[in-house]
Amino acid sequence: MTRTVWDSTVGKKTVMAVSGIVMLLYLVAHMIGNLKIFFGPGEFNHYAHWLRTVGEPVMHYEWTLWIIRVVLVVAVIAHAVSAYQLSRRDIRARPSKYVHRQARTSYATRTMRWGGVILALFIVWHLLDLTTGTVHSGGFETGKPYQNVVDTFSTWYGNALYIIAMLAVGLHIRHGFWSAAQTLGVGSRTRDRALRTTANALALLLTAGFLAVPVGVMTGVVS
Ligand code: HEM
Repeated sequence: MTRTVWDSTVGKKTVMAVSGIVMLLYLVAHMIGNLKIFFGPGEFNHYAHWLRTVGEPVMHYEWTLWIIRVVLVVAVIAHAVSAYQLSRRDIRARPSKYVHRQARTSYATRTMRWGGVILALFIVWHLLDLTTGTVHSGGFETGKPYQNVVDTFSTWYGNALYIIAMLAVGLHIRHGFWSAAQTLGVGSRTRDRALRTTANALALLLTAGFLAVPVGVMTGVVS
């Protein structure tokens, strides 16, 4: 019985919807946290420190952060694996190989697939850039994210990579939020308009909120 649910298309879409919502909640929190950069290095770096001490004294240093990381990794893997399996199923279900490929996959499906790949690559780059400092452009300093972020957005490629990724985030959420609502049965004839508006507003807000940081550095508001 359990196996049948996991193997079904609906089961896989539900996994995608739930893991997507988990990541979306993280992104909203991350975007709001990032905006603290406009209040200066003291507040931003203090916030990064708080992320590591939250829950003390019940939690040890970084325990809460590690729980969040584990939840996110599980969500990313579940999302990617289900997406891959669903797309394989979609390809297998095609009646003939001769028909022109583009005509068989919708614009939204293609955008979601490519967007997902771009985002996965971005997340790897982003972690190596601002969490471990491995590919960071300046002298990376642990515990000093304010200066690290300013360094990243002081290079043309840093700005280019992040701006492309933020646009991909917006597009992905716009369609993903809508799809998740349909999968989870929230959609209906009367609610669909409101759901589309919510998806658009959410995507716009997240993209604008994230983009504010590189724009802030490029314009010298954050330095
Ligand atoms: C302009 C946009 C962004 C900026 C300025 C930014 C900034 C940062 C910074 C400074 C950190 C390190 C925080 C710390 O170590 O205390 C971080 C971590 C992280 N960011 Fe972003 N971020 C941006 C967009 C994104 C996006 C779009 C995603 C996901 C698609 C994302 C996912 C993550 C993840 C997963 C971590 C690792 C958290 C951890 O485990 O410590 N970020 N980000």
